[in-house]
Amino acid sequence: MPDPIVDRNRHMNEVTDALAPIQDGFRAENCFLFGPSGVGKTTVAKAAVRELRREVLDVPYAYVNCWKYYTRNAVLDQISHELVGAAMPRSASTSRLIDRIKADLHGPGVVILDEVDQLRETKVLYDLHDIPGLSWIGIANREVDLLADLDDRITSRISVAYRVRFDTYGEDAITEILSRRAREGLGPNAVDEDVLRRIARLSEGDARQAIAGLRVAARMASREGLAAIPGRLVEDAVADAEREVRQKTISKLNTHQRALYEVLAEEDGLIQKELYARYQEAHDDPVTLRYLRENHLPKLEHYNLIDIEQDRGSKRYHLVGPEGSQTNPSPC
Ligand SMILES: Nc1ncnc2c1ncn2[C@@H]1O[C@H](COP(=O)(O)OP(=O)(O)O)[C@@H](O)[C@H]1O
Ligand SMILES: [Mg+2]
Repeated sequence: MPDPIVDRNRHMNEVTDALAPIQDGFRAENCFLFGPSGVGKTTVAKAAVRELRREVLDVPYAYVNCWKYYTRNAVLDQISHELVGAAMPRSASTSRLIDRIKADLHGPGVVILDEVDQLRETKVLYDLHDIPGLSWIGIANREVDLLADLDDRITSRISVAYRVRFDTYGEDAITEILSRRAREGLGPNAVDEDVLRRIARLSEGDARQAIAGLRVAARMASREGLAAIPGRLVEDAVADAEREVRQKTISKLNTHQRALYEVLAEEDGLIQKELYARYQEAHDDPVTLRYLRENHLPKLEHYNLIDIEQDRGSKRYHLVGPEGSQTNPSPC
């Protein structure tokens, strides 16, 4: 966890404000953070909770990545483990999990629901609302309506008081983030400011990408036996880092996203209808076209795995990167 958090004061303050009631023993306000990948959403959420826990010792806290834990049961299971340390059998029912959390949570607690747009069963937001003292910080790429699938009678009782929008970082902020990382990770003179600035420029406001670029550049330099990173390595390092980040994202895909990815790896440039038909053949339990369009395809786009091209009123989907780009088709 970086400390301090660079260039995110406003965002930090808003999340801290949402959490403030906990300092007086009350339930916090729910809040929702959204913006593209690599702009510090997860970092700010965790840092705000860290700050709170410095003020109010031992506020119960859980972090759930809804990309990995996307069912109601999986989310509650994760929360019962992390928030109240309850060791429940893997097969515990939803109601038992909720009862256990209710019984063990004395006073306010907070849950970070990261990648909350990947949640398949948003009903769990109602479960959380029903647990006295519990509030959440939701994180997603777009300003989705988290409560859209819930019953109106329920949504009228759940509120999201803070919506915090994150835009991509400017070049100065990324350079500063890199500079702090370099000092801590590589020592005081391992890299010049102008090399960092070039990495920053090529990373287009995405801190994850930039940090990966720095890491790859440092690795390349140390392989050459150099004590500092020369500028000539920057371009290759950033390109390699992009591939590394992409590979890591691919490993996190759920079965639907993976099926889509594989269909496009076989045949790049499909229009939506074709892509959906091929995906339906490839997956045992396909989601609806609407769900695919509103959930899985935007996710793949946000994580820079696919590009969407407008082609005379229809959308054409391309894989990003050497495996699937139009300019450099796969040899096999
Ligand atoms: N403001 C910041 N200061 C320092 N490091 C940051 C900052 N924002 C992001 N980072 C670093 O960049 C990487 C990506 O940030 P993250 O919070 O995971 O982005 P997001 O959740 O928006 O995709 C992490 O390694 C994080 O530590
Ligand atoms: Mg994140």
